Amino acid sequence: MGAERVVVVNGPNLGRLGVRDPEVYGHDDLEKLRSLCDQWGNELGLDVEVRQSDDEAEVIHWMHRAVDESTPVVLNPAAFTHYSYGLADAASQVTDAGLMLVEVHISNPAAREAFRRRSVISPIATGTIAGFGFTGYRLALEAIAAKR
Ligand code: DQA
Repeated sequence: MGAERVVVVNGPNLGRLGVRDPEVYGHDDLEKLRSLCDQWGNELGLDVEVRQSDDEAEVIHWMHRAVDESTPVVLNPAAFTHYSYGLADAASQVTDAGLMLVEVHISNPAAREAFRRRSVISPIATGTIAGFGFTGYRLALEAIAAKR
């Protein structure tokens, strides 16, 4: 049997990592995150695919695909976290299918502006990791690997 597939989905503006608010999100870019996830996946026996989109419909579609392909999800919903019921409904189909969905935030939204304190994704996520920079993705992958 090959390595278990995991999809790491990043929402809007995360293609701007390294340029956008480096004091909040760090100096590393999405390509660095991609290579780290690849490396961590190899260490954990996971086949990790990192995606990013600014388009809500595309992110929703990736949740549907994860269900159809029985693939656990690491999701940084970015700003969709705070208001997208469409994404929450799509993400709940992942967990309803018995697949893990780990919500990740690079920063700690609870320690920032008031509008970031609410997540419409947390209530349906398997679990949430926030505030540890890119390491949060590694922790999410470890949680998925540990569940096998
Ligand atoms: C974020 C936090 C969100 O509030 C914000 O909209 C993002 C990134 C994070 O990774 O810390 O774009 O999800």
